Amino acid sequence: MVNFKDEIVKILDEKLNEESQVVSIEEIANSIEVPPNYEMGDFAFPVFFLAKIYRKNPAVIAKEIAESIKSEYFEKIESKSAYINFFINKNKLSETILNEIKERKEDYGKPGIGAGKNVVVEYSSPNIAKPFHIGHIRSTVIGDSIKRIYDFLGYNTISYNHLGDYGTQFGMLIVAIKRWGDREVIEKDPIAELLKLYVKINKEVEIDPELRDECRAWFAKLENKDEEALELWQWIRDVSLMEFNKVYKMLDINYDTFKGESFYSEYMPAEVDKLEKSGALVESDGAKIVDLSKYNLPPSLIIKSDGSTIYITRDIAAAHYRHREHQPYKNIYVVGSQQSLHFQQLKAVLKEMGYDWSDEVVHVAFGMVSLEDGTLSTRKGRVVYLEDVLNKATDKVREILTQREIDRGEKIENKDELAAQVGIGAVKFQELFNQRIKDYVFSWDKTLSFEGETGPYVQYVHARICSLLEKGNFDINGKIDPSLLNSEEEYNILRTLYNFTNVVIDAHEKYEPYFVTRYTVELARAFNKYYNQTQIIVDDEVLKNTRLMLCYAVKTVIKEGLQLLGIAAPEKM
Ligand code: ARG
Repeated sequence: MVNFKDEIVKILDEKLNEESQVVSIEEIANSIEVPPNYEMGDFAFPVFFLAKIYRKNPAVIAKEIAESIKSEYFEKIESKSAYINFFINKNKLSETILNEIKERKEDYGKPGIGAGKNVVVEYSSPNIAKPFHIGHIRSTVIGDSIKRIYDFLGYNTISYNHLGDYGTQFGMLIVAIKRWGDREVIEKDPIAELLKLYVKINKEVEIDPELRDECRAWFAKLENKDEEALELWQWIRDVSLMEFNKVYKMLDINYDTFKGESFYSEYMPAEVDKLEKSGALVESDGAKIVDLSKYNLPPSLIIKSDGSTIYITRDIAAAHYRHREHQPYKNIYVVGSQQSLHFQQLKAVLKEMGYDWSDEVVHVAFGMVSLEDGTLSTRKGRVVYLEDVLNKATDKVREILTQREIDRGEKIENKDELAAQVGIGAVKFQELFNQRIKDYVFSWDKTLSFEGETGPYVQYVHARICSLLEKGNFDINGKIDPSLLNSEEEYNILRTLYNFTNVVIDAHEKYEPYFVTRYTVELARAFNKYYNQTQIIVDDEVLKNTRLMLCYAVKTVIKEGLQLLGIAAPEKM
C-alpha cells in the first residue's frame, strides 16, 4: 500500500536537506501530524522549529515550502499560518486501497512489524476452587484481544493463564473434602460445591483451633509433595479447570499454557537465594523484605515470618521463567488496577535483583465492572457467574431472532449458533468499548441493542454487506476503475479503510483494544451512510464492480476488526 506519510517525509527531506543536512528524517517523520478535521488536510507539517534555523517567520517559511513542492500523491499542498497541509490525491488513495484488498484479501493492512519478536500475554488467571464470576470477564476479554492485536501485527504471542492454584487455602480445602466432601457430588458442580466446603471450613476453624492446625499441616504436606495431598490438590485443580474451560470454550479463548502459581514454587528458592546474595533482602520482624523506598514504594514482603513464600515470590519466579523461555519483547500482565502496587513492586524487586530485562514486564491495568443493580461482591455471596451471563445474553438474542422469524415469516438457519455469536459477541464488545482503566456498569439494554455503538450493530452491517455482495454477484477479478469512487461518502470510507493499520498499531502501543472497537463502529457507520445514499448495484458493470470492491473491502476490514476483539462475524443475521 502507498504510505502517504512516508511520501511526505520523502518530499520534505528532499526539499529541506537540498543543500545541506538541516533536519533528520526522524525529526520530519515525528513532526507530521493528523489535523483535527479533514478540511485542514490529511496530514500537516508544523514548521515552528525551522524558524530558528532559517531565521524567518514560520508563516513565511510554510508558504515558501508549500509553494515549491509538488507530488502526484497529493492533490493540494497549502500553507495555513505555520503549517503545511497535505491533501491526499483521492484517485491514488482509491487505487492503493482497492489494489491492496484485491491482492491480500483477509490479510489487508497487516504490517508485519512484529516479525521475529516474542510477546507473552497473561490474562484471566482465576483462582481455582473459586467462582469464575463476571468480574473475571475483563482480564479474560481484554487480554485475549491484546493477544490478537499483537498476532495481527506479526508478533509471535504466547498466552499464559497464571492460575491461582497455590496457597494455604488448599490445606483447608483438603481437610474439608476429607471430612465432608463427596467427590461424586462435587464433580457434578465443582465450583459451587467446593465453595460451600470452603465457606464451611472457614467457619469451623474460627471455633476450632485444632482444626486450623490440621489445615496448616495439610498445606505443609502439600508443599512437601505428600502423595495424598498432591492427589487431592490435583483433583481440585482438574475439576476447577474443567469448569473454567467450559467458559473459555464459550468465549472462544485459548491458551498456550495454564502454568499456575504452583508451577513456579520449585523455582522460588533460586530466586530467594539470588535476592539474598544481591543484598536486597533484609530481615524485618522475622520476615524478609526488600526495601523499595528509592522507588517511592512500600517495602515488598518476600518471605513471611513463618518462612512461607507469598504471591509476589511466585511472580518473581514466573517473570524470570518467562524471560528464560521466551526472551520476550514484552511480558504483558492483564490484571485489575487493584494490583497496580503489586506489579510496581514486582518490577522494582526484579530491578534490585539486577535483572536488566525487568522493563519487559508490563502491567496492563483495568477498572472494575459492576452490575446495574449494585456492585459485585464475592464476599457477600452475591456471585454472578460469567457462564450465566453468557447464557443469558445468548438466550436474549435467541428470543429476538425468534421474534424476527415470526415477523419475516422465514426460518433463520443455525439459530442457536447465531444467537451465541451475537449474544457473546455483544458482551465482549461492550467490555472492549471504553478505555480499559475506566470502571463501567454492565447494562443489558446497552449490550444487546442492535442499534448504536454495539456489537450486534457492527455484525449486522457486516452481514448486510455479505448479502449485498451475493446479490450483486461480486467477482473479485472483475474489471474495476478506482477513479469512479469519488463521492464524499466513498472518500470517507476509503480514508477510514486507510487508517485501519494505524489504529491497530496505536492499540498495541497503548494496550487499548477500544481503539479497534470504536474503529469498527466508525467504519460500519460510514458504510451505512453510503449504503443509504448510493445505489450500489447498477447496470454499468465496471461501476458496479468498483463499488462492490469497496463494499468487499469494508466487509473484510469489519470482519478483521471484530476478529481482533474476539468477536465472530456471521454472514447472515
Ligand atoms: N489469581 C489472581 C487473582 O485472581 C490474578 C493473577 C494475576 N497474575 C499474576 N501473575 N500475578 O487475583
